[in-house]
Amino acid sequence: MRADQPEIATVAVLGAGTMGHGIAEVAAIAGYDVVLRDIDAAIVEDGYDEIEWSLEKLAEKGRLDEDPDDVAARVATTTDLEAAVSDADLVIEAGPEQLSVKQDIFESVDAAAPADALLATNSSSLSITEIAAATERPESVLGLHFFNPPVKMDLVEVIYGKATTDETAQRGYEFIESLGKTPIYVRKDVRGFVVNSVLGPFMSEPAWMVSAGEATIRQADAAMVHERGYPMGPFELGDLTGIDIGYHVRTEAGRPVPPIMAEKVENGNLGRKTGEGYYDYDDGDGSDYV
Ligand code: 3HC
Repeated sequence: MRADQPEIATVAVLGAGTMGHGIAEVAAIAGYDVVLRDIDAAIVEDGYDEIEWSLEKLAEKGRLDEDPDDVAARVATTTDLEAAVSDADLVIEAGPEQLSVKQDIFESVDAAAPADALLATNSSSLSITEIAAATERPESVLGLHFFNPPVKMDLVEVIYGKATTDETAQRGYEFIESLGKTPIYVRKDVRGFVVNSVLGPFMSEPAWMVSAGEATIRQADAAMVHERGYPMGPFELGDLTGIDIGYHVRTEAGRPVPPIMAEKVENGNLGRKTGEGYYDYDDGDGSDYV
């Protein structure tokens, strides 16, 4: 870090959905002051409730060094983007996986965030270079790609856009280390970066098979868990991450969407967050496929 660059003290997280509230939580656990922002007060409140729930769970299991209320108290909430980022040393955008939406957010962030702030996107697959192009400071923009659920997943990708400087990437890398997580650099801004490029076929091949009636959801999940030893099968994982995320990753890339996935999104059955996806969670059926 250069002497004229601030230590990161305040982190603004834009988007209070599954990833946003998880990232806000891990930053608060690590001692950062966090501002969690979404466009709608009800979404921000839901996100904050999820943080409180998760902190209680961690505390019950002795995995939190502090009182959960003290950690939660470091998270402020707002719907005002300008107020959220105006004092931030690091902004992490965790909005919808659509390029135009992210570019709009970055344009607003560019206008309101301090000149020396680090500007990160948690995009799953979109070009960091194209997101950064919405700002006048693409050298300060990078990808910090967390995995769901952020509080449990160790790895975070630190991704360069074309203009990202080594200094920017290094500050991002050190921030991830300060969360107690394992950062890896991704120096080529390829679609899906490293992890989702590997994960893509694991998620989409079984969806094509199920759409063609060649396998059931339960069979595909059981195969990967019992035969391969994965913690979750592809459909359980789709329900955890949100079926809409995979859907947007494909449509934004101009790739075909397996019919089973399109049908779930059209019906608003997006996974755990809506109570139903490939499995029905409201019925207590969950993803217990054995
Ligand atoms: N906070 C606190 N506690 C949590 C929690 C959270 N966010 N989520 C679950 N828990 C709790 C559960 O409630 C449960 O509590 P209980 O024992 O009191 O019932 C406890 O943790 C144990 O949970 P589980 O038994 O469900 O499972 P594990 O702890 O063994 O593992 C898992 C859960 C880490 C999610 C594991 O199943 C896993 O690794 N799954 C794969 C996840 C993965 O691959 N993520 C990456 C997805 S791809 C992605 O994110 C990229 C993006 O770009 C799309």
